[in-house]
Amino acid sequence: MSKSLILIAATALSQWREWAQAQAIAADISLGEINWFLQALTSITALDLKLGINRDVHSQVSLTELKNLWQQRVEQRVPVQYLVGKTPWRNFELIVTPSVLIPRPETEYLIDLALEATDQNPALATGHWVDLGTGSGAIALSLVEQFPNATIHAVDRSAAALDIARKNAKAYGMSDQIQFYQGSWWEPLQEMQGKMSAMLANPPYIPSDLLPDLQTEVFCHEPHSALDGGEDGLSDIRILVSEAPNFLISGGIWLIELMKGQGQVVAQLLSQNGNYNNIQVVDDFSGCDRYVLAKRR
Ligand SMILES: C[S@@+](CC[C@H](N)C(=O)[O-])C[C@H]1O[C@@H](n2cnc3c(N)ncnc32)[C@H](O)[C@@H]1O
Repeated sequence: MSKSLILIAATALSQWREWAQAQAIAADISLGEINWFLQALTSITALDLKLGINRDVHSQVSLTELKNLWQQRVEQRVPVQYLVGKTPWRNFELIVTPSVLIPRPETEYLIDLALEATDQNPALATGHWVDLGTGSGAIALSLVEQFPNATIHAVDRSAAALDIARKNAKAYGMSDQIQFYQGSWWEPLQEMQGKMSAMLANPPYIPSDLLPDLQTEVFCHEPHSALDGGEDGLSDIRILVSEAPNFLISGGIWLIELMKGQGQVVAQLLSQNGNYNNIQVVDDFSGCDRYVLAKRR
């Protein structure tokens, strides 16, 4: 914690917690979020929370501010990660603001799939990799961590998202290992034609009509530019399918996350394109088709 800290008395924080719990129950919000929220903003530990708050704690924000923030959680359904400005993801604690999608646990598995895919062709691990639609930079940072000898490129159309991704890279001393580009999908990477070993992306894939059905937390607070995949949800994925062959080397990896139910359609798009082989639809841990992996012929 770098800001000057405020001491909050145990009794006052206990009372705050009881108030926050009552609010959460009434609003059908998991009580676990309160513990996470407190641990993110104060010096309270999991043990303190388990045993009951019986010592004064240091906090980044005042008790009044804790109350204001929790009210935003309950009344406006602001995601708790935006309220505290960070989220855990794989081995990282990433800065997040409403300019970026909050990276999801299911996206973590993309990195494991990339690792498995390089087992069969270790030379790929020293090549050029791109995270298209980097958002907070989550995938790009993990690629640096897992493929230290690769050159990592990260693209996003949103300048505000790139700003957050750069901050995250800086926080982990990775600024020199990731090249950031503002632009649409492959467009800023023209010089990399025929040179890329792998492309990873978690593109917008939700059909436009379904956006209002998303949880309020997502629909009202996360950037629609990160979610809206056009009429059938596949607008951006079609671009990734059609343009990647110009950029990937033979044997290069094409790997994306998608929405449950899109796996077979995307596999078909890849197959019809004619430039891919080893096309696989991969399920997530709940058994839903969630990722598609292919190789450039
Ligand atoms: C679903 S979010 C994924 C963010 C991050 N990769 C993750 O997994 O948490 C999609 C990202 O794609 C970006 N995006 C949308 N359209 C784009 C485009 N045409 N070109 C590049 N990036 C785009 C959005 O700004 C957003 O950051």
